[in-house]
This record gives sequence, C-alpha cells and structure tokens, in this order.
Amino acid sequence: MTRQDFPADFVFGTATASYQIEGAVDEGGRGPSIWDTFSHTPGIVSDGATGDIACDHYHRWETDLDLMTDLGVGAYRFSIAWPRIQPSGVGRANQAGLDFYSRLVDGLLARGIRPLVTLYHWDLPQALEDAGGWTARETAYRFGDYAELVARALGDRVADWATLNEPWCSAMLGYAAGVHAPGRTSALAGLRASHHLNLAHGLAVQALRAAADARIGVVINYHQFYPATDSADDRDAVARADSIGNWIYTEPMLRGRYDPLTLAVTKDVTTWDFVADGDLTAIHQPLDFLGVNYYAPTWLVASSAPLAEPNPWPGAVQARWVDAPPPVTTMGWTVEPRGLTDLLIKLHARYPEVDLVVTENGSAWDDQVGTDGAVHDPQRVAYLRDHLDAVAVAIRDGAPVRGYYAWSLMDNFEWAFGYSRRFGLHYTDYATQVRTPKDSARWYQAFLAA
Ligand code: FCB
Repeated sequence: MTRQDFPADFVFGTATASYQIEGAVDEGGRGPSIWDTFSHTPGIVSDGATGDIACDHYHRWETDLDLMTDLGVGAYRFSIAWPRIQPSGVGRANQAGLDFYSRLVDGLLARGIRPLVTLYHWDLPQALEDAGGWTARETAYRFGDYAELVARALGDRVADWATLNEPWCSAMLGYAAGVHAPGRTSALAGLRASHHLNLAHGLAVQALRAAADARIGVVINYHQFYPATDSADDRDAVARADSIGNWIYTEPMLRGRYDPLTLAVTKDVTTWDFVADGDLTAIHQPLDFLGVNYYAPTWLVASSAPLAEPNPWPGAVQARWVDAPPPVTTMGWTVEPRGLTDLLIKLHARYPEVDLVVTENGSAWDDQVGTDGAVHDPQRVAYLRDHLDAVAVAIRDGAPVRGYYAWSLMDNFEWAFGYSRRFGLHYTDYATQVRTPKDSARWYQAFLAA
C-alpha cells in the first residue's frame, strides 16, 4: 500500500483537541471549562493530572505547526476552546481568544496546511454547566451563537468545519456514566444531553452556512459492533446498541427523526418530552461529510442481565460486551483494521449522500525514549499502515472517503487517563516540552513523501 493507492485529492492530516494540548487555562481571557473543574476534582483523573499545562501548545503553536510541515501532512484538525471565545458561554466574543485561533489558521495556511476546525471537543464553559449544561435546552442556543461568532471570525479562511466531536462521549460518558466531565450519572440526563447536542449541531450548521462558504460535517465515534455469534439474539443486541450508541445522533441529523428502536430501547427512561416542535427540522441540516473516529470494534452478546450502574447505555440495551480479543493497545482496545473497512462501507450504504472523512484513528502504546534518543513504536507503525490500508480497501469498494487524520500529532492529555496514555506520532516529554518524532512519525512522513 502506498499513497498512490488513494485518490490524488485525498487529504492526509493529523488531529488534536484544545483541552488536550493547549494549557494556558488562565491566559488570554479564557474562562473555566467543565474539564478544568472535573480534572481538578480529586480522585477522578489518573495521577491527579489536569490540562493546566498539557503540551503548552498555546505558547508553542508555531513550532508545533513546524512539526506538521516536517511530517508533510496536508491538513490539520484542531478544536476551538469555547471558553476562550466566550469565557462564560454567553455574550460578545473575547478578542484575544479569536486572535489566537486566527493566528493559528494563518500559520497553517502559510505552511500550505488546510485547517479542519472542530467547534466543540468537550470543553463546555463551566458557567453553562452551572445553568444545566447539555441537559438544558438553552445550551444548544448558546452553541448556535458561539458558532456564529467563530464562523464570522474565521470563515473567510477556514473551509472545513465540524460542529461536535463525539456527542456520544459528551452525553453518555459525561452525563450518564460520569467518567467524563461534568461527571453526572443519570440515564435521563444522558438522553436529554444527546438531544440538546443534536439541536446544537443543527443550529451551528445553520450559523456556519450563513456566515461562511463551508464544507460542514459532524464527528461521530461510531461504535463498530459485531455480534459474538450469528444468532438472531446477538444480532438484535447489536441493533439495540447501535440505536443508542450511533443512530441516536445521525438519524436526526441526516434523516430528521429518531430511530423507532432508539425510542423503544429508552422507553423506561423517558417519553422524550424534551423534543420540542420544530427541533427535528432544525437538527436535520444538509451535511457535506460525516467525520468518523475509529479505534477498535467490540463484540456483543444478548443478555437480560442489567448493566452495572452507572453506565453509558441508557435504557434496555440487553447486551453484554465480550472481553476484547488480543492484540490490545494500552487502552485495552483490540487492534482490528477490518472494523474500519466494514464501518466505512456500512455508513456509505446507510447515508449515501455524504462524503466520509476519517477524522481520528490511532493507538496508544507504552512508548519510551530509547538510549539512542529515538522512540521505536513498531506497533503504532503497523497500526497506522494497516488502518490506512483498511481505508484504501473501503475506497476500492466504493466508500467516498476523502481524508484521514491520524490521532494524534503528539502525546497529550488523554481525558480520564491523564498523561498515562500516549497516542502521539511525536513523543511529548512533559517536563521539558520537547517533542520527539517517533518511528511512526517517520513512517507517515515517508509514506506521504512517496
Ligand atoms: C477520542 C477523542 C480524542 C482522543 C481519542 C483517543 O474519543 O475524540 O480526543 O482522546 O479518543
């Protein structure tokens, strides 16, 4: 497999997110986000880690862009920290925040790297959480306002936009399972948050379309489920999990309705009375692409035993997760590139009108800087190569995949795992902030140059 196996206009990039890399949480007028609060709550994040400094990217962005020039990538996906733009989530824009991202965009364009801006990668202004967060309908309207401010400031130079990153994680990990910020543990809250995130997406798409000539998408962590056996029961378990793990977002966004199975599975949790007249029309906006974040598949068996509470599967999923088969990464995630091919083909069959972009894909390993000063990460090299190959296979089989963004440019704050999981193409030494290209960075560079 070489670069020539991809269409000539295929975009190869790398990805990050604001809270995971920026640090400088008190600078430039930034307000607190739910991840500041959550990471500073003792006993939640591994090793008591916070994003206060992270990769110090706020100060080192120029040399970080140079790393991308060295890699030879044509694109970069990053996110904007909402609390840098609106410190308390409402009102006029904080100019220093807009200026930071404006300089970043100019720096990318000067290097011939195309920006893909994600508006929301989980750092909700804390003030909005204090007013109900994503369980409150108002938050969706605030997001629409925020999208408009950003689109007006950057829309003249940024062509590629994503509204939300992984709304399932925001809603279900954040509000139902409590393992991500804001750490709430209510199934109902998870569903309300899901709907308000969907509404926020629809309002943001409208604001972006009005202000910018944009290619707009949303980034979803589609769970790629397989039934553990071919039995009808196990296949039904997959259908139920799909309905509350996947289609709960893209059915309203692309079909203007909630899947009847989503409503059936969650019927003991809610009547969905929080869906107001007109919401589904507002959510159902034409999209240019679906952003697909893929790391690993999982296998399900039907089970009537309820899941332990709290969990991120509100309602009667009636499924049990099979232990991940080896090989697994340090996240415990199975390495199975076929899952990416299958997912891309399946999404194209379901939503043939949209392009697909792999907006994240990568793996965490126990990296060390060797005595030779290098970081030898053969498992990440193999993962990257095999997943690029899986994308090439999906394209050959007819899936309209337009781009691939490797997660991540550098090791960074891996949410509840703090700094204990390394996903980077570059090794981050957090004490010195030195970035060292791993062998995988060298491999990607050679692949792109070929
Ligand atoms: C995804 C997130 C991203 C990163 C990877 C490993 O769920 O979008 O920020 O943490 O997982």
